[in-house]
Amino acid sequence: MKKHNPMVDREDLISAMREAAQKTEEYLSRAVENEEEALALLFSSMRYSLLSGGKRIRPFLTLSFCRLFGGKEEACLPFAAAVEMVHTYSLIHDDLPCMDDDEYRRGRLTNHKVYGEATAVLAGDALLTFAFETLTHAPVPDADIVRAVGCLSAAAGCRGMVGGQIMDMAAENHPDLPLDTLRLLQARKTGALIRAAAALGCIAAGVRDAERLDAADAYAEALGSAFQITDDILDAYGNAELLGKAVGRDLKENKTTFLSFMSREEACAAAASLTEKAKAAIAAYPGAESLMALADGLLTREK
Ligand code: IPE
Ligand code: IPE
Ligand code: MG
Ligand code: MG
Ligand code: MG
Repeated sequence: MKKHNPMVDREDLISAMREAAQKTEEYLSRAVENEEEALALLFSSMRYSLLSGGKRIRPFLTLSFCRLFGGKEEACLPFAAAVEMVHTYSLIHDDLPCMDDDEYRRGRLTNHKVYGEATAVLAGDALLTFAFETLTHAPVPDADIVRAVGCLSAAAGCRGMVGGQIMDMAAENHPDLPLDTLRLLQARKTGALIRAAAALGCIAAGVRDAERLDAADAYAEALGSAFQITDDILDAYGNAELLGKAVGRDLKENKTTFLSFMSREEACAAAASLTEKAKAAIAAYPGAESLMALADGLLTREK
């Protein structure tokens, strides 16, 4: 297959991401409307985290893969929203005192700092379950809803993101953790949901052939690894104001990260090489330029 030259510059990427974020946020905002007084606190807490900005990378992946493979936006918006709900739930729980004990997220107080721990736990639970209800609203054949539910639940669950979070907790205060174990931990805690975001876009587009599914997955797997390495670098060297979350937390909590194994330069080089791998996986598909630009953009991100 012929290779296409990336023609998307940074400005184009920013506006494409802004457009995808806006559409996802409109959908999310409508989905979590509530008029029932008894549920006001729960919904307020859900909305607080769900509609507090964030880069919306995962919905961008879902929408972009759906478009790349000829699917319709209406088909995949519920999938894009669902993956962002799961992501937001994971952040609410990740910030709790029993986990990373963080005070700031996306430039404001963490959910439990505003609503208290019990409500924050329940808002997370509600977002997780509502995500699956939302998947079922996609106007796609029932068989593809079943595929989507299987994909997202596996990615979020015990052998996916939750599995990664427990490995992350177990790795605290373990300076002798092997690098391969850290890679597996990160592939689960961050990579699994990023891969699901890409896969959901393919499912919404009705993609069934292994070639396109594997290309999307190879892209997302490499992108996810690069993304978490950059997250570790930003935690150590980034700017808290730009990031919207505190820095130096991994060191303080004795987390094993990429920087436990290598210098900043080596970690940057590892992320750069994974970025090239991600781009190469989809370079042959006409229209993949914005996804390739995303990979480059995430490498130099400051937030
Ligand atoms: C942060 O994810 C948590 C990780 C998986 C490293 P993002 O960096 O995508 O967070 P938001 O959604 O932009 O706030
Ligand atoms: C969070 O990883 C991953 C999930 C929420 C599943 P981190 O703990 O590194 O994320 P930040 O740095 O708090 O955003
Ligand atoms: Mg964490
Ligand atoms: Mg954290
Ligand atoms: Mg981090």
